[in-house]
Amino acid sequence: VLATTPSERLSYLDRRGAPELREALAAYLNRVRGTAATADRIVITNGFAQALRLLTELVRARGGRRIGVEDPGQRDAVRAARDSGLDVAAIPVDEHGIQIEPLLRADPDAVILTPAHQFPTGAVLAADRRAALVDWARGRGRLIVEDDYDAEYRYDREPIGAIQGLAPDHVAYAGSASKTLAPGLRVGWLILPDAYVDEVAAFKETVDRGSPSLEQLALADFLAHGDFDRHLRRMRPIYRARRDALLRSIRHHLPDAEPVGASAGLHVLAWLPDWVDDAAVVARVRREGVAAEHVSQYYGPDLEGGSARARSGLLFGYGTVAERAIDEGVRLIAAAI
Ligand SMILES: Cc1ncc(COP(=O)(O)O)c(C=O)c1O
Repeated sequence: VLATTPSERLSYLDRRGAPELREALAAYLNRVRGTAATADRIVITNGFAQALRLLTELVRARGGRRIGVEDPGQRDAVRAARDSGLDVAAIPVDEHGIQIEPLLRADPDAVILTPAHQFPTGAVLAADRRAALVDWARGRGRLIVEDDYDAEYRYDREPIGAIQGLAPDHVAYAGSASKTLAPGLRVGWLILPDAYVDEVAAFKETVDRGSPSLEQLALADFLAHGDFDRHLRRMRPIYRARRDALLRSIRHHLPDAEPVGASAGLHVLAWLPDWVDDAAVVARVRREGVAAEHVSQYYGPDLEGGSARARSGLLFGYGTVAERAIDEGVRLIAAAI
């Protein structure tokens, strides 16, 4: 990339990001995720973390007061919303994703959700809920923030397209290279409704004058030459084997646990009986070198409408763990319980 890049690409870039990357992403996402993207509606960010903050700032700047988040859900969304001066409403999640009735009752200015593989439950948002969500956003002029989390790694279910493709004027679609390539790259992207592009790009320019160009050009090259597709094809069976090893170990060592959301992504949630203090188990196995996470930390009893009582469960990230180490880790967790 360095050898072929014209020098002006190392100057300040378009504030939406490198045009090569925005073009390559639009082509890739439209083909693989069913989005309706054009390069001029894409803004490159430093990962999803920055995309989230740009959007909470946008909602606030447009006079919004409240954001809805999934409960349980990623707490980064809560922090970003609060830092932007927004109130946060918790919208409960079940095995079909975010629940629509509580969303309609809370009617926040925007909702942030993970429809492809809900974090942390791994639920896939049901088709009727997708349609209801879009009806709500259209009817009330609300914004859907679609965190297309873990969409690429799927093992035993059909791909489900992004909601953005159904309602490009009501969805801010956010993606990231963190799960598919590496979190350290800090590359993410937004596909925005036309009306929001300039404002979001202006926020991005204000905070950091744009993401580093070489990373953007390298990723553009990787996408345009089909290397990203090849990488995903190569990794899928590796992750699937690790997922299968994890499920076997859970069945064997933790027969009372109920694993869910295992058909996609890079983590599995195993619900535990309520008498298990999941946080205490995690603290204990950490001393033995096992990293799991307790699901109870992702509930929002402090949020408007948040569940008063968290369920007990453990999150197992298997993306970087060899199959043999997985079994030993689950065994140590069972012993700790
Ligand atoms: C729900 C969710 N979305 C997106 C991401 C990716 O964030 P980033 O692109 O800032 O690394 C993460 C990272 O853990 C996540 O948990």
